[in-house]
Amino acid sequence: MKCIGVLSSGGDSPGMNAAIRAVVRTAIYHGLDVFGIERGYQGLMDGLIRGMDARSVSGIIARGGTILKTARCKGFFDLDGRAVAARQLAQHGIEGLVVIGGDGSYQGAQKLHDEHGIKCIGMPGTIDNDIGGTDFTIGFDTALNTAVEAIDRIRDTAASHERIFFVEVMGRNSGYIAMMSGIAGGAEAVLVPETPTDLPQLVDDLRAGRAKGKTSSIIVVAEGDEAGRAIEIAAKVAAISEFKDTRVTVIGHLQRGGTPSAFDRLLASRLGVRAVEALLEGETCKMTGICGNDVVLRPISDAWEKRTLFKPSYLDVAGKLAT
Ligand code: ADP
Ligand code: F6P
Repeated sequence: MKCIGVLSSGGDSPGMNAAIRAVVRTAIYHGLDVFGIERGYQGLMDGLIRGMDARSVSGIIARGGTILKTARCKGFFDLDGRAVAARQLAQHGIEGLVVIGGDGSYQGAQKLHDEHGIKCIGMPGTIDNDIGGTDFTIGFDTALNTAVEAIDRIRDTAASHERIFFVEVMGRNSGYIAMMSGIAGGAEAVLVPETPTDLPQLVDDLRAGRAKGKTSSIIVVAEGDEAGRAIEIAAKVAAISEFKDTRVTVIGHLQRGGTPSAFDRLLASRLGVRAVEALLEGETCKMTGICGNDVVLRPISDAWEKRTLFKPSYLDVAGKLAT
């Protein structure tokens, strides 16, 4: 293999730049030509492909977002769209592709390989920490710290005004960010899609807290909770209880930006080196991941077939410490 490409796809996450840097510099270290593909699969189909050198990735390890930009691309779901993408790769002499993204992007990569023989390696880039094959995804740690900092700030005003706050965090269908930020932020309750949400029980718990001297409470809500978004849950609680004057904060996309944590930079750097070396070994349809602090190479299908869930023991910890 003489030439590879790298792209970021799906939702951005802090640490994607560190991942791009690691891929580009490892490729150069091994004497490969390396192209950066802008705007994910859309840019690949549109030919937004540029040569990268060591200086193209200078100073980006500390920057959030992705210098290659990212996108979601309807055309790539179609056979014809992927054929256009494969032609672009051939025109540039790109034989292997590193895809930084989530399980959707990986499914596209798998098809690109199956239909056109392009060797593809995935790097897990999403704040949600929900894809299989790795204990941690690039960006999760930074997003978690952002959420915890927000909860800490809300705690100050909640305590001063003796209020109940509902704080909504991201995660799509996963409660990973919610559970971890809830425990680390000392939340009184955490509502996640992985377990049934019982609002009358939540009201009873809030009352019990009041009886024990709690004057304020923070309830962390995963955006994918089946009881609804935080604003709806606050309204439902108001409808069935005396807790009518509550406040709602949606942290939202703040969790997607910002300087990546040292953890995410290290993770991205280690996985980036492995991704390029996997291509050099002739591997394809694999993803790099971290398992027990070891870098691993797993089938790319693990990402969607073996989704990462938080361990049930976290529920126990959250419950016991919220009293
Ligand atoms: P993520 O990679 O973060 O899971 P998405 O699910 O939005 O994000 O996927 C990103 C892009 O990957 C999609 O916009 C599409 O271009 C491509 N993609 C996703 N799923 C598939 C699929 N099943 N087949 C082909 N391409 C896909
Ligand atoms: O997958 C990352 C994520 O931030 C999810 O947590 C969230 O549900 C989604 O992307 C938001 O997507 P968008 O940026 O398109 O609104």
